[in-house]
Amino acid sequence: MQLLVNIDHVATLRNARGEGYPDPIEAAEICEQAGAAGIVFHLRGDRRHIRDEDVYRLKKSVKGILDFEMAASDEMITICNEVQPELCTLVPEGREELTTEGGLNMKTVFEDYKNRVFPAFKGTNTKLSLFLDPNPVDIEIAHTLGADAIELHTGTFANASNSDLQKKELERLIMGAELIHTAGMTVNAGHGLNLDNLPVLIREVPHLQDISIGHALVSKSIYWGLEKTVKEYIKILTDKK
Ligand code: PXP
Repeated sequence: MQLLVNIDHVATLRNARGEGYPDPIEAAEICEQAGAAGIVFHLRGDRRHIRDEDVYRLKKSVKGILDFEMAASDEMITICNEVQPELCTLVPEGREELTTEGGLNMKTVFEDYKNRVFPAFKGTNTKLSLFLDPNPVDIEIAHTLGADAIELHTGTFANASNSDLQKKELERLIMGAELIHTAGMTVNAGHGLNLDNLPVLIREVPHLQDISIGHALVSKSIYWGLEKTVKEYIKILTDKK
C-alpha cells in the first residue's frame, strides 16, 4: 500500500491569483521527498486547475509513479500518449461538477472504450486504471477490456452521514476489492479520503495498492506544512503493513 498525492488543488490556489505560486511541481517534489510513492494530477477539459505546461513539467520532475487522471477524450489521449506516464486513470468528467462525482458506467462506455480508447494505448508502457464504484458488473466489464487496475471510488464511503451507511459502503468496497484482485487487476482507491476515514478504510478493505489523496491532504498542509502532512498519511499506511 502506498500514497499517491493529488496536487490539483495546489494549482487551484495558484490560479486564484494568476501568480506562479504555489507551484504544483514544487509541491510534488516536497511530497516525494517526504516519502510519497507518486503524484496524481487531473488535467480537465476546462483546465480549471492543472494546465498543460504543468503536465510536461511534472513528467520531467516526478521520480516515482506519475498518474495522469483524465476523461477519455481524444484530446487527453493525445496528451497522455505524448507524456507517457506510468499510470493513466480514466474518469467520467462533467462540466458543472465540483469534483469527480462517481465511477464510470462501464455498460455505457464499453463499445467506445473497446474500439477507440483501449486501442489508443496499445504499444505504450502506460498502465490503464478505471475509476469505478464497487459494482460487480462494472468490474467485470473492466476486466473484459483488459484494464490493468481499478481505482475504487471511496467518495460514498467518505461522505456517509452515519455509521450504518458507512458500514454498508465498506462492505461493497470489500466485495469490489476481492473481485478486482481475483480477476488479476491491481486494486487502487481514492476520493474523499482524510486522516479520519483512511485508517477505517485500510483496516477493512483488502488488497489495496495505490491510495490517491488530494483535497484533504492539501488543505491540512496549510496548517501543518506539506512535508509533515504527507508523513502523517504515510504513517497511517505503513502502520497497517
Ligand atoms: N481519485 C480520483 C479518480 C479523483 O477524481 C480524485 C479527485 O480529483 C481523487 C482520487 C482525489 O480525491 P480527493 O481530492 O477527494 O482526495
